[in-house]
Amino acid sequence: MSQSAQLKLSGDKTIDLPVVVGSENEHALDIGKLRSSTGYITIDPAYGNTGSCQSNICFINGEEGILRYRGYPIQQLAENSTFVETAYMLIWGELPNKQQLAEWSGLLTEHAPLHEGLRFAFNSTPPQGHPMATLSSMINAVSSYHPELLNIESDDGFKVAAAKLLSKVRTIAAFSYRQTVGAPVRYPKPDFDYCTNFLHMMFSKPYSSFEPDPDVVQALNQIFILHADHEQNCSTSTVRMVGSSGANLFASCAAGVCALWGPLHGGANVAVLDMLGRIYSGKTSVKEFMEKVKSKEEKLMGFGHRVYKNFDPRAKILEESAKKVLPKLGVKDPLLAIAEELKDIALADEYFIERKLYPNVDFFSGILMRAIGIPINMFTVMFAIGRMPGWIAHWYEVFKDPNARINRPRQVYTGPTERDYTPMDKR
Ligand code: CMC
Repeated sequence: MSQSAQLKLSGDKTIDLPVVVGSENEHALDIGKLRSSTGYITIDPAYGNTGSCQSNICFINGEEGILRYRGYPIQQLAENSTFVETAYMLIWGELPNKQQLAEWSGLLTEHAPLHEGLRFAFNSTPPQGHPMATLSSMINAVSSYHPELLNIESDDGFKVAAAKLLSKVRTIAAFSYRQTVGAPVRYPKPDFDYCTNFLHMMFSKPYSSFEPDPDVVQALNQIFILHADHEQNCSTSTVRMVGSSGANLFASCAAGVCALWGPLHGGANVAVLDMLGRIYSGKTSVKEFMEKVKSKEEKLMGFGHRVYKNFDPRAKILEESAKKVLPKLGVKDPLLAIAEELKDIALADEYFIERKLYPNVDFFSGILMRAIGIPINMFTVMFAIGRMPGWIAHWYEVFKDPNARINRPRQVYTGPTERDYTPMDKR
């Protein structure tokens, strides 16, 4: 039975608002006809109460700490899947069978190399430039070398575009890293899987064979899987917003990279390591730092989330993984102990309890990435590689939606009312 709610406005006008119910029994008021029937709009700065779309891709229950991609619990994917398989499932909706997975992996291998023109473009990026700047501009540049990808006309055409983007983003990331350290680029190898190839392009030396540590490969798969989607976060909403104008997949995802860069979003993984590093170097102590957090002079980076008000399941998995992987690799990182101390203090402190602040995905991811050799300035790039399947899936959902309209919020204007132009000599 369809449900509705009533909204009573001043002047005794009452209107019915249909209620939209999601497959997990989430309820939303459909205000699609509100302005045309009443003249009112709603206002919700930072969109804390606004559903921007209906989507089949990702489900989060922030009160219970649940995250599922297409129905699959994140814990099961992190434990059993690979990044390539998870990416397929996010983009196409179902887990692939053997043949589909082989075909998808084959496409990723085929499209890993960059056009030589694009490779040479790295020579003109300054070594001190931020890899996120390089990443977003190079993603856009890919489409210039493959203009046929700008107009997607079939699922097969989209599959090639998606494979090119997902595969090349990793090549671009690794090339940009080598550029920053002045090392020659390493081309992708067709016999390596996605994560191994990334490690090869990042770290292998010319003229020597590369033997990736299987624990490192597995940890990398897990890091990417845990970042692969998170429904309507800032960068994914950006991708959907840009895509709603009809902008192509590459332009939309390049915009997603820019949104992710900020320290309140994907840039938080860098900010966490900076914070831990400051404490480790003695510039501040745990106690002094926490006092500053509570007096709002500092933020406890890697803590808090708009949606999770209980715990972030990704943080739990990454914490466990860090505790397992670091000893396996023989890494003793003092920052892990500092992170644990901060976490324990925060979880027992009224300031954090009252505000329901818990460790988020960025709190432990940096420690794990550091242990597998990823340099700090690449952390947010790693997040971007991981998030790419989600961005691609969301872009395609918008692209395929027959009812999609350009996203265009309204506003409540608070500036000056009409006034006359003052000539320069009268100002
Ligand atoms: N440290 C100290 N206080 C905090 C923190 C924090 N990390 N996060 C939120 N608060 C306080 C905030 O000051 C506010 O206090 P009050 O009620 O006294 O004004 C209250 O908690 C509610 O916070 P909010 O800023 O209204 O929450 P939000 O939903 O707008 O912001 C957030 C969410 C993630 C941006 C924020 O928690 C934050 O800045 N965290 C640190 C940065 C971070 O770790 N970002 C990564 C997020 S997860 C991955 C991703 O999405 O990229």
